[in-house]
Amino acid sequence: MDKKTSNRYVNLFMNKHNNNPTYSVITHGCQMNEHDSEKIKTLLEEMGFVESEEKLNADFIIFNTCLVRENAEMKVYGQLGALKNLKKENPDMLIAVCGCMMQTGPARDIIREKYQHVDIVFGVNNINSLPYLIDRHLSTGKLVVDIERKDDIDEDIAIKRDNKHIGYVNIMTGCNNFCTYCIVPYARGREQSRSVESILSEVKRMVKEGYKDITLLGQNVNSYGKTLENPVTFTELLTEVNNVEGLERLRFLTSHPKDISDELIEAMGKLDKVCENIHLPFQAGSNNVLKRMNRNYTKESYLEKIEKLKQNVKGITFSTDIIVGFPGETEEDFQETLDVVRKVGYEQAFTFKYNRRPGTRADLFEDQIDEEVKQDRLQRLLDVVYPIFYEKNKAYLNTVQEVLIEGESKNNPEVMTGRTRTFKLVNVKCDKSYIGKLVNVRINDFNSFALTGEMI
Ligand code: 5AD
Ligand code: SF4
Repeated sequence: MDKKTSNRYVNLFMNKHNNNPTYSVITHGCQMNEHDSEKIKTLLEEMGFVESEEKLNADFIIFNTCLVRENAEMKVYGQLGALKNLKKENPDMLIAVCGCMMQTGPARDIIREKYQHVDIVFGVNNINSLPYLIDRHLSTGKLVVDIERKDDIDEDIAIKRDNKHIGYVNIMTGCNNFCTYCIVPYARGREQSRSVESILSEVKRMVKEGYKDITLLGQNVNSYGKTLENPVTFTELLTEVNNVEGLERLRFLTSHPKDISDELIEAMGKLDKVCENIHLPFQAGSNNVLKRMNRNYTKESYLEKIEKLKQNVKGITFSTDIIVGFPGETEEDFQETLDVVRKVGYEQAFTFKYNRRPGTRADLFEDQIDEEVKQDRLQRLLDVVYPIFYEKNKAYLNTVQEVLIEGESKNNPEVMTGRTRTFKLVNVKCDKSYIGKLVNVRINDFNSFALTGEMI
């Protein structure tokens, strides 16, 4: 479909708003959703929409939703509810809901029944249809739902990214793993890899536009390429992208411990642009819990991979995801989680209380854990991880780090923020002209979450 749709009703809508109606995309969830939202923004701006200054007030508001935990779902319903009155006052306003939640029947039914002021619902594989869906809604005035159509995974569009120097590139969609707690495979479907050619052409175009730091994105990037007509390994893809001239830094997200090969670990040590940092979720330290989570690795094999990474990739840093209070988790099991945390020494960790997700296998397990126990374990986990973050950051004191300046600090426009190759956030006092540049910074202060330094 022509993205700059010449459709009649969209044109009327545009005219009514002096050809530049405002939009706002509200994104919940993971990096994948953030990136999908960049695609949505690109499409809307191509149509003539301009981004609204207010998040919850625009001519067109789109909610890109997440299904991984109930909290994220509740937030969307809350925000949608709050828009009911606004829409009454301004019936011309459009509201769309997309993302993982809309991939499930029950969530769509709730929208149909309780949130009748929603105009458009679309799925994770229907983003490109948006201009057409807007037109269809405007022509009928009814709720338009599209979750069936498949976008071409090899699509080659110039995505307008929020940051002009660091960017994400989708290399695959879906997941085949079915971890028993996780709803993602049900929402996003099976693994599908994008072709090497299509990925390389996007990376080359981004580098030409000035991007220096690129992250290859997928639910489980280490199994990239298995389903392609001519199978390719993730290591082969990484090597090809590493060879793109002008690229400075290369990262990837998310890795599954069971699929990290020796070949990949060795390549990470050798490929000059691949950064010394990996996000490697271990979820739980107990082998019993890991088995019931269907993770397909053990605590020992996970730690072995960490050890290999430490040996092969000099100065590598780690981040992770951890779930506490999975069904049946005993105090001893939880202690195994703390043991992994202490042994690895993560620089960053995303910590979650297990959350029942209807439709997943773990939701049917009978030995669910009480909320108070989950809360207590989460707190004790944080009591262990925060001091580690602090010690890790302390070790940067008086070192000189190469920092890619990304933009102004949220709190102080005179301070710029950037990242080290190890993905550490650094505050640097310098002017805006350094945005997008790699600078050397001497670290002279720190807290548990960020470093501060001076340019040298
Ligand atoms: N409950 C809690 N955390 C979850 N995650 C995924 N599903 C659940 C759930 N049901 C966490 C995992 C995953 C991260 C993206 O979200 O740690 O790695
Ligand atoms: Fe969910 Fe597991 Fe797939 Fe990650 S690997 S998306 S946790 S099922």
